[in-house]
Amino acid sequence: MTEKRLRNISSHCNYNETFMSYDQLRQPNALKELLQLFRQTGIPLEKQIVLEGGFGTGAYIGHLRRHVQEIYGVEGSDEGFAQALQKMKHAANVHLQVGNILSLTFSVHCFDAYTVNQVLHHLDTEPGFPNLNVFLKESRRVLKPGGILTINTSSQEQLDPYSGVFWNYKYIAGAVRAIAARHIPIHDLISRLEKFQFVDIQTTIPSGKIFNERFYHDPSFALEPVFQTGDSVYCFLSQKDMKAAEDRLRSDLQNGSVFEEMARAAGRAAEIGEGIIVSARTPE
Ligand SMILES: C[S@@+](CC[C@H](N)C(=O)[O-])C[C@H]1O[C@@H](n2cnc3c(N)ncnc32)[C@H](O)[C@@H]1O
Repeated sequence: MTEKRLRNISSHCNYNETFMSYDQLRQPNALKELLQLFRQTGIPLEKQIVLEGGFGTGAYIGHLRRHVQEIYGVEGSDEGFAQALQKMKHAANVHLQVGNILSLTFSVHCFDAYTVNQVLHHLDTEPGFPNLNVFLKESRRVLKPGGILTINTSSQEQLDPYSGVFWNYKYIAGAVRAIAARHIPIHDLISRLEKFQFVDIQTTIPSGKIFNERFYHDPSFALEPVFQTGDSVYCFLSQKDMKAAEDRLRSDLQNGSVFEEMARAAGRAAEIGEGIIVSARTPE
């Protein structure tokens, strides 16, 4: 009997494995801010038709669906889709599909708001970010005139392994540099949005946190497989690099210096946030 291969679309990570522990590690960090941004369309939230691209296990859709009329989702991994479907099987206003956000099946001008959360860095492997253009063209096509696109991502400052906002990145600096290279710098993202004639371009720092609370208090969490498989940055580490990173963290746990790093990262996160939403609207 042949086993069915699970679909996975990320350029660097097998999300069918990552999603086995994702919900134990991550939380949606920008719910309040996204709803605020959707309101900028002038359409009452409860009348809005919304799309989420790359919805993962459905953490955002599970909340947003309670505020909007209908929400559609397109996700590239079978495992994410299956988990989200299971959670939302009784939600009549949720419509999920497996698909590619670079080639949406919707017709023109369907949505009041289109949101992607921590997805952009999965689209491109080339430094010129060519797939970002495809994504923006598709976004323009499916959004209604005056509709809003919200891109929840991370800045180079936030991702910096030594001066950024995640304390564990110091121990896996090589992998962090690799994933940072997949993140288009925010000023370049803004220029792309301008090139595609989006208007009202804004940046918003979400007030929420990306990881489960335990991450901020218990550094031994980062030594556990549930943590390491749940964050795509670890997909860039070889087994040898992983072992070296764990050894460094164990040593800093013993001498207590990891707690200084955690305090530094928390201070930095309070200054610049853990993520950034770049939003833009289509002309009326
Ligand atoms: C870091 S996860 C974020 C999941 C979810 N948005 C969240 O914040 O919980 C990135 C997600 O993007 C999805 N993805 C990446 N490229 C995609 C594409 N071209 N089309 C659809 N989904 C994609 C992955 O399968 C994965 O679920």
